[in-house]
Amino acid sequence: MKEFFIAGNWKMNNTFSNSKELFIAINDNISNINKNDLTKVKIVICPNFISIYHITIEANGTPIYVGAQNCYSELKGAFTGEVSANMLKSVGCKYCIVGHSERRTIFNESNNFINKKVQILLENDIIPILCIGETLEQRKSSNTFNILKEQLDNCLKDIITDDLTKIVIAYEPVWAIGTGISATISEIEEAHNWLRQYLIANYSEDVANNIYILYGGSLTENNADEILSIKNVNGGLIGGASLDADKFLSIIHTAINKSKE
Ligand code: PGA
Repeated sequence: MKEFFIAGNWKMNNTFSNSKELFIAINDNISNINKNDLTKVKIVICPNFISIYHITIEANGTPIYVGAQNCYSELKGAFTGEVSANMLKSVGCKYCIVGHSERRTIFNESNNFINKKVQILLENDIIPILCIGETLEQRKSSNTFNILKEQLDNCLKDIITDDLTKIVIAYEPVWAIGTGISATISEIEEAHNWLRQYLIANYSEDVANNIYILYGGSLTENNADEILSIKNVNGGLIGGASLDADKFLSIIHTAINKSKE
C-alpha cells in the first residue's frame, strides 16, 4: 500500500473571496469522502498570506491541512514585508513551502538562506516542503544530479536525522513548472530513484523510506494517474491545476484510488 501527499500551491492567485470560494468547493467534496479512504492520502493547500488565517480556521476539523508558500529566516524584527515561522504557527499553519524555484530565480534565494528557513520552520513545528530541481540548461549539460546534490547538501545542512523524517521533498524540474510540459515518466522515475538513494546514503534506509518525495511541474488531472504510479513518487506539488477545484479534486481522487491498489 502506498501513501500519498497532495499539495496545492495557489501561488500569487486568488483574492480573499476567491480563496474562500475555492476552499469551499474543494472542502465540500472532500467532506463527503469516506474517512477510511483518506487515511493514506494527505491533502495540503497553500494559499496566499492574506487568506491563510481564514483558511486555517475553515480547515480546522477537516482532512485538509494548510501550508504557507514562504517564510523568513528570522523570527521577528525589522524585516519589512516578511512573515515568520512563529507567525505561521500562531494561525495554525502546519506546512511551509521553501526553496521554490520562483523564489530562487525571481528573489535570488540561495541554498544557504533556504537552509536557515528549513531550520527555523522545524524549530517552530512547521513542516518544510523543500523544493529542488534543475533548470533546462542544467539538464541539457548533464548537470541534473550535481545540482540536486548541491541543493540537498546545502538546504539540509545541520538537519539532524530525527528532524529529517519530518521534511517533505518536492522534485520540481524548473523547465516543467507552469509550462504545461511535465517531465517524462522515465525522467521523473530516474530523478526520484536518485533522490531516494541520496537519502539512504546520507541518512538511512528507514529514514529515506519515510520521507515523502513529491513531483511538481505541470502535474494535472490528465497525467496524475501515470505520475503517481511511479515507485518513488509519493505525491505531487500542484500549481496551475490546484486553482481549479474539479482538477485538484480529480488528482486527489486518483491518489485515493492508487492508495488502495
Ligand atoms: P505547476 O506548478 O503545477 O503550475 O507547473 C507547480 C509548482 O510550481 O509547484
